[in-house]
Amino acid sequence: MQVIRDRAKLREATARLRAGGKRLGLVPTMGALHQGHLELVATARQAADAVAVSIFVNPLQFAAHEDLARYPRDEAGDLAKLAASGCDLVWMPDVATMYPPGAATLIEVAGPSEGFEGAARPGHFRGVATVCTKLFGQTGADVAVFGEKDWQQLQVVRRVVADLDMPIAIIGHPTVREADGLACSSRNQRMTPDQRALAPMLPAEMRRALTRIAPGAPHEAVLAEAVAALAAAGFVPDYLSLVQPDTLQPWTGGPGRLLAAARLGDVRLLDNMPLG
Ligand code: PAF
Repeated sequence: MQVIRDRAKLREATARLRAGGKRLGLVPTMGALHQGHLELVATARQAADAVAVSIFVNPLQFAAHEDLARYPRDEAGDLAKLAASGCDLVWMPDVATMYPPGAATLIEVAGPSEGFEGAARPGHFRGVATVCTKLFGQTGADVAVFGEKDWQQLQVVRRVVADLDMPIAIIGHPTVREADGLACSSRNQRMTPDQRALAPMLPAEMRRALTRIAPGAPHEAVLAEAVAALAAAGFVPDYLSLVQPDTLQPWTGGPGRLLAAARLGDVRLLDNMPLG
């Protein structure tokens, strides 16, 4: 496994991996890797001949009130996990390599980036769209794999790729969960033991609500009950909304996705599940 921090070396290495028409898969990450990331690597392996993983804590996607410095980092641990997972190349640029002085281009996405995380984290999806566009261009990957855990992010990336006619396929990988149902996330390690014990109530309430939503019947009361139960238990719910899966517009029937965000202490938990 090659670890690369320099643009010119990346170009050489990806050209070698793609020689002879071989397909390159990319898994974009911000490090602090967990089982969910390793499953993305395994999916990329199945979809492509070689796999690159990027590790870059992207300052552009942190809103002004979010603490970039507190984002978990574990370079040695990440590289050991990737070496054991069948990754061929790790792309680890620093901030100056990714955004050299004078950089002045940002990718602004409307549609699926509006509301939900877009409202809670101003500028977040502009940062995600910009860095993903750069990562796709830098690696020349044929396919990129994203976790469905960040459902809104996945829809934003799909929108960018479609709108900018990028020659890359986007694969969404189902959310990987801990044994108690909590979605795997690098942020889980920041919870206290009490918060961690309470956290699986979020997916449990979502599941319960989904079983009670009947076609044609108003679902708002069901969701309001789930929000009240979470608040009574100590969560600070931000939203629990049923939306159309790709546009994130309010659900009007047919396929739906339940999106949730709630805070426990200073950890913001995100989750989503399909209707039906
Ligand atoms: O999901 C993440 O870890 C990040 O938002 C991503 C896609 C790597 C872009 O920085």
